[in-house]
Amino acid sequence: MLLAVLLLLLLLPLPDLWTANGHPLYMRLPPSTLQVLSTQGTQALQAAQRSAHWAVKRVAMEIQHRLHECRGSGPRRPKPQAPFLQDLPEPGPCGERRLGAANMTRAHGRIVGGSAAPPGAWPWLVRLQIGGQTLCGGVLVAASWVLTAAHCFVGASNELLWTVMLAEGPQGEPGEEVPVNRILPHPKFDPKTFHNDLALVQLWTPVSAASPARPVCLPQGPREPPAGTPCAIAGWGALFEDGPEAEAVREARVPLLSADTCQRALGPGLRPSTMLCAGYLAGGIDSCQGDSGGPLTCSEAGSRPREVLFGVTSWGDGCGEPGKPGVYTRVAVFKDWLKEQMTAPSTREPSCRELLSWDPSEEPPVDATGLCAFYARLCPGSEGDCARLAHQQCLQRRRRCELRSLAHTLLGLLRGAQEVLGSRPGLRRLAPALSASLQEPPVHPAREQRLYSGSRAAETRFQKPRPEHRGETKGCPGLEHLRQRLATLQGTHAWILQVPTEHLAMNFQEVLADLGSKTLTGLFRAWVQASLGGRNVVFSCLVGLEPTTLAHSLPRLLVQALQAFRLAVLAEEEP
Ligand code: ARG
Repeated sequence: MLLAVLLLLLLLPLPDLWTANGHPLYMRLPPSTLQVLSTQGTQALQAAQRSAHWAVKRVAMEIQHRLHECRGSGPRRPKPQAPFLQDLPEPGPCGERRLGAANMTRAHGRIVGGSAAPPGAWPWLVRLQIGGQTLCGGVLVAASWVLTAAHCFVGASNELLWTVMLAEGPQGEPGEEVPVNRILPHPKFDPKTFHNDLALVQLWTPVSAASPARPVCLPQGPREPPAGTPCAIAGWGALFEDGPEAEAVREARVPLLSADTCQRALGPGLRPSTMLCAGYLAGGIDSCQGDSGGPLTCSEAGSRPREVLFGVTSWGDGCGEPGKPGVYTRVAVFKDWLKEQMTAPSTREPSCRELLSWDPSEEPPVDATGLCAFYARLCPGSEGDCARLAHQQCLQRRRRCELRSLAHTLLGLLRGAQEVLGSRPGLRRLAPALSASLQEPPVHPAREQRLYSGSRAAETRFQKPRPEHRGETKGCPGLEHLRQRLATLQGTHAWILQVPTEHLAMNFQEVLADLGSKTLTGLFRAWVQASLGGRNVVFSCLVGLEPTTLAHSLPRLLVQALQAFRLAVLAEEEP
């Protein structure tokens, strides 16, 4: 024991110690560790609010959608199974650029060799992000669909990690960040050759009419305009090969090249059946790393010129090198696949995000949205038996999704902690231990409901759908159920939704470990004092005191901090 304490002192020279007869009793974690905890905790708190906000927003939008449907087509039209997901490619306007943005700067200087685009110039251009970092471009092709390159998801196929940053407005109004519901890479995408380098990304909520984001037009036929047609590329990619990424969108004009020219320039790697190339054989102007998934559009003349998406940025040999034009996936030849994917969602397994935002304890137990109907489709039994079976399978998959999302959140936190603490403990062992600590204590729904109604911040920031006349509910099947779902969600998430932005931080003031309480796993009982969401919380938990055990114990500590906060909020609302 004494040896261990001595070792400890060597490893962590900073903490304060209290002693009795020369023996240390308590130890304080040093300010540098508290700082790490505070930074990580703030991120966890923000993420928790963001996902609660998204869950609520999605149901609110479903309500709007349902109402719109009922008003538009009368109550007798048969109800589609999952109306929210049946987001057809917009038949409405597409490919329209704002006046002023249309006369693009001629390409010079430096995507590679392009120029900065004015804000809002490319309303369909989106960024695909993980943890706030842009990894690829993408193109909005319908209210809920973004087209991008399949290679963007190699090694990062978990849709729960991705968000889409929609286009900013013409005055530089920031674009909206939307979670990803599904990633559908082309089934024949080959990561070695980049053949069929195309993926559809389904947004969690469709782009609203109020957003400055607008879809581009998809080609009508299977052919591109003739070689020599000047088309446009845009993105946030590197300014030159191995160079820094652009801070703002850049654009350039590049001519389409003939299949022959492409093949001669790039050799057998170029497959003219699914790839086209564009650019200058002289070099200098091209897309580059980070532009992948972004658009190659050509304008279609007419009384109102429209931009049509003919290519999705895919690969190149260097960037802007002489004789090496950029390669783009031919969108026109994938027309049928695109249409099929965007119109057939009811035959798909529910996504993790859908399952995670579904509350299985909800009454009535049969899910009205048809979420689990997928699992009943091959069931030979009676309707009742099949419904039960489907419900079971839904629950099972939901559990797997929960683990997936949990594991990622925690690994993210852990990695952050390690970076600062500089130790590299094995990551794998952690997740199971933590899933137990994350089980939320049950809270009576009515209590959380009350909490929500009492919280003004939540009501002003997360607008409830406007009250409609009761009559509308009657003629609109499913609406009442959706409303109830919304109310429940708002209730269960109220504790985090109500935290105003300025208080969305964790600040650890003290972690005091009892040196006499070492467990078999090398952890110590500690008292933690922190301010969280503008409130002081005190709780106890286990911490490690050596770099390795400490790093391991931090994510759990953060989870417990969140829980302590939640309980404090609930307790305060208790009459
Ligand atoms: N593969 C790159 C990316 O992931 C795009 C490269 C385009 N290169 C080019 N020379 N046009 O961002």
